[in-house]
Amino acid sequence: MTTTETATEFAIDELLSDGITNTPPSFVRAILKAASDPAITSFAGGLPNPISFPQEKLMESMQRVVAERGPEAFQYSMTAGIPELREWIAERYNHRFGTDYTADDVLVTTGSQQVLDLLGKVLLDKGDGVIVEKPTYLAAIQAFALNQPVFREVELTEEGLNVDELNAALDAGAKMIYLIPNFQNPTGLTYTAENRAKVREILAGRNIVVVEDDPYGRLRYDGGHQVPLKAMDDSVIYLGTISKMLGPGLRTGWIAAPESVLARVNLVKQGADLCGSAFDQLIVQHYFADIPWQRTLQKFIGVYKERRDTMLAALEEFFPPEASWTHPAGGMFLWITLPDYMDTDSMLAEALEAGVTYVPGNSFFPDGVTGKNSMRVNFSFETPESITEAIRRLAGVIEERLELYRVFINAGALPGYGKEAVMAENERENWDEVIVASEQNEEAVMQSHDGDAAQIEIAEDKVAAAEEEAAE
Ligand SMILES: Cc1ncc(COP(=O)(O)O)c(C=O)c1O
Repeated sequence: MTTTETATEFAIDELLSDGITNTPPSFVRAILKAASDPAITSFAGGLPNPISFPQEKLMESMQRVVAERGPEAFQYSMTAGIPELREWIAERYNHRFGTDYTADDVLVTTGSQQVLDLLGKVLLDKGDGVIVEKPTYLAAIQAFALNQPVFREVELTEEGLNVDELNAALDAGAKMIYLIPNFQNPTGLTYTAENRAKVREILAGRNIVVVEDDPYGRLRYDGGHQVPLKAMDDSVIYLGTISKMLGPGLRTGWIAAPESVLARVNLVKQGADLCGSAFDQLIVQHYFADIPWQRTLQKFIGVYKERRDTMLAALEEFFPPEASWTHPAGGMFLWITLPDYMDTDSMLAEALEAGVTYVPGNSFFPDGVTGKNSMRVNFSFETPESITEAIRRLAGVIEERLELYRVFINAGALPGYGKEAVMAENERENWDEVIVASEQNEEAVMQSHDGDAAQIEIAEDKVAAAEEEAAE
């Protein structure tokens, strides 16, 4: 028997833990694969734009780290992270939050993603409640799902959290609440100052761990910065990362939290990886200490703002009237909502054929089903030209499906969108009236198009005459 034959007899499905069986499959791998195909314009990933990576400065930092700190850089280090970097983070927070943190109030992790995994292990057992925004960050769902909690979703609105739903979720019971108040992933929405204050008031006095994840807070393109929940209440657990302001390849994030939480996170991290990369952390520390990093941040902001504006303009120009979308003041994503009979999951194949990809909305809901009529699109990664062209093509894909649905709706063949719904919408009492009205509409539309055509013809004649005159 060859080794290969032995391997195929291996029935892994029977051996898996309940946790992994309950964890939704990752869309991320598919995203990265599509993003690496040059023929595809990817709105799917959450990738920072490499044109803003400060590669020369990082090269300097790297060389100095190797030359001056080599023995430490390539050695195991403290589980909590190298002290100088933690000190730098603590000082930044003292400046922003008016706190008096030291390095001991901060623990550095392998990206802020690792904190989500560690917090899940520290806090959640099977059946425990965890409150999340609806929709929420898909890799947070994955990280928490491994512990088999019950997800209690709270609607996210243009203002922030729906406070009635928040109260109901708290009453139903939860150990942890996970929030992304700035330029949320996936929607790009930001909580207003009033909503933050209200959320804090509701959470105050509850025995619950409040986690504020803020990877995008510094990427603001319009308006002023909002006060973090952490600045309103020191017991909030705050997650930061260099991924969106320097580069995710250095895999450096952190958690600022009360000692009671940090000690447990430290314990679990020891079992996870002993320690993060000292080499990465020293480069980051050197970069922030010695290089004017705010300039790099400004470069990121300039690049992303232009792309956000380009995407919003293209949506306005090409998308059908049935679609709506968020207008984020920062971050890297916006959220598109289509009529609820549309399915962006199955539409993805058509979009890929048209050379564009996005993340179907259902990936951001724990049940994997809700939100099928929505999609997350990223605007930070592609060039303005390809954003405009790909939005045009995506609009074509959506339009093609909508055409089909319009036929169903007009025939009264779509549940919930039948003759009655269409009659009510048109304020008619019977179907014949709708038909007559729609024929009249059609005629009016045709006439107005004829009018357009005639106008265009006159304009074209004028242009041709002007050109002839200029040529003479
Ligand atoms: C909301 C949110 N939290 C956490 C992360 C993880 O970031 P990292 O691990 O690179 O710090 C991301 C990455 O996209 C994110 O969008």
